[in-house]
Amino acid sequence: MNQAIGVIGGSGLYSMEGFEQNEERVVETPFGEPSDVFVGGQISGKQVWFLPRHGRGHRLLPHEINHRANLWAMKSLGVGFILCVAAVGSLKEAYAPRDIVLPDQFYDRTSRRAEHTFFGDGIAAHIGFAEPVSHGLRALLLAACEAEGAKVHDGGTYVNMDGPAFSSKAESFANRQLGFDVIGMTNVAEAKLAREAEMALATMAMVTDYDCWHEEEEAVNVQTVIGHLMANAALAQKVVKRTIESIDVESQWMEHQALEHAIITPKEYWPEE
Ligand code: ADE
Repeated sequence: MNQAIGVIGGSGLYSMEGFEQNEERVVETPFGEPSDVFVGGQISGKQVWFLPRHGRGHRLLPHEINHRANLWAMKSLGVGFILCVAAVGSLKEAYAPRDIVLPDQFYDRTSRRAEHTFFGDGIAAHIGFAEPVSHGLRALLLAACEAEGAKVHDGGTYVNMDGPAFSSKAESFANRQLGFDVIGMTNVAEAKLAREAEMALATMAMVTDYDCWHEEEEAVNVQTVIGHLMANAALAQKVVKRTIESIDVESQWMEHQALEHAIITPKEYWPEE
């Protein structure tokens, strides 16, 4: 079965190079409204659905993003693979602004976890999340980054804070001491929900700043973040396009059967619709 490919674009990625868009789809979900309409089209004959995480024009703060609606909608559009592009702050000297990091781990410091699962309300399920990022998709992203000559770091731990305020110095130092590599405000919810919905997900994290721990660098601010993102937008688009071209949309990976290994309430106990 040919699966579609979803792209969740971050700040500064509202369109994609080489994307012949031919459709806009408003998707209704049991969880409310997604961030925006989905823009559909083809890249190398593959069906792609693009969603700007913060809405076009950047209208939504991190805690206002309806991740459940976004991911539910992706699934309903037949998406089996999700590429996320996300701005992150760096917690390590070696990860400089405009570098790309392909995280292989997440650390969840959010407080709204009830909104980061499709389960609950009578159906209890626990998916495995020890390996939260799709190995297959991450490998394709890495190859695409290398082919495009990007400065890319293979692996790293993404710590997800709530925001919307950036970290205090005390928090930034603590995050460094805990060994995290990059920090952001959105991606862990997407990774958890994608796994629950059996979609493979990997993230291209675009480094935009050194948060506020670095002695010689200015503390993070929105202008700096947007400036680096814009400067890197063309590269991000090329990497996403190349990755899409390399995905075998018939692949069936471990992530596509994630619920087979989940503990889940047996169907006879599910609440009536
Ligand atoms: N996104 C980009 N830079 C960030 C930072 N320093 N902290 C949290 N999210 C970010």
